[in-house]
Amino acid sequence: MPGIAVVSGASSGIGAAAARALAGDGWRVLVGARRVDRIGGLAAEIGAVAHHLDVDDSGSVERFAAFVAAVDDDEAGTVGPSRLLVNNAGGAFGWAPVADADEQQWRAMYETNVLGAVRMIKALLPMLEAHGDGIVLTVGSIAGYEPYPNGAGYNAAKFAVRAAMSALRQELLGRPVRVCEVDPGMVETEFSLVRFGGDEARAAAVYQGVTPLTAEDVGECIRWIAARPPHVNVDQLVVLARDQAGARQIHRREVPD
Ligand SMILES: NC(=O)c1ccc[n+]([C@@H]2O[C@H](COP(=O)([O-])OP(=O)(O)OC[C@H]3O[C@@H](n4cnc5c(N)ncnc54)[C@H](OP(=O)(O)O)[C@@H]3O)[C@@H](O)[C@H]2O)c1
Repeated sequence: MPGIAVVSGASSGIGAAAARALAGDGWRVLVGARRVDRIGGLAAEIGAVAHHLDVDDSGSVERFAAFVAAVDDDEAGTVGPSRLLVNNAGGAFGWAPVADADEQQWRAMYETNVLGAVRMIKALLPMLEAHGDGIVLTVGSIAGYEPYPNGAGYNAAKFAVRAAMSALRQELLGRPVRVCEVDPGMVETEFSLVRFGGDEARAAAVYQGVTPLTAEDVGECIRWIAARPPHVNVDQLVVLARDQAGARQIHRREVPD
């Protein structure tokens, strides 16, 4: 067994797909998210263990870390302590030019994508390091490389994630923890539904005429990064659909009415 993997934001999309792919590779998977009904169902399906997690709330992260530590204790002498943290919880809220920035949405994006990832790292790093080959694997975005109109709040958050992971990588140099990032382009998940506040037509339009990545495509990247031998650190893996050549360059086929 490769070890214990913790996946945040596993109730849908990339997180759920990563949890499935990792379980398929023999990892003992621990999943967290706010929608516990969903992670409970996933856990039952793949033989994982689920626990409520709200990365915006430091108390919730502490309780989740205590749950991970308890599993680690149970597995001590076999696969514990935890080896892999997939920092996936995140998303975009809103679509507006900087001139009309909604401060609450900007704060929320920073809170979940940046501070959420940092809270999880602070809480789990001692266990990952104690493993002797720990991995922090964060889901960034092409939005963290290329700003685009109406996306600045999300761009700023994902740029910040990349900055924090780059600093962490340097800080941990010489210690037994890899710091990796997968940075996808357009992936068809609940991401756009969340971004547009539940507007299904607007969310569907994002993927119209395009063959986007699937959550499983990115889950497979995560599984692959985690399966590299300990001396191989995949620092950044940018993965885009063939129809997308950058954050703003998307090829769309005409869709008949
Ligand atoms: N889809 C894309 O085009 C795309 C592209 C590049 C990067 N990404 C990134 O990929 C990651 C996963 O997104 P996705 O596309 O899979 O979208 P998704 O289907 O909306 O999934 C987002 C996941 O994050 C969880 N989450 C959100 N806020 C959370 C919080 N405060 N605490 C704990 N979990 C939280 C959600 O669970 P609960 O709501 O149940 O808590 C859900 O499981 C995000 O970081 C996103 O920024 C997505």
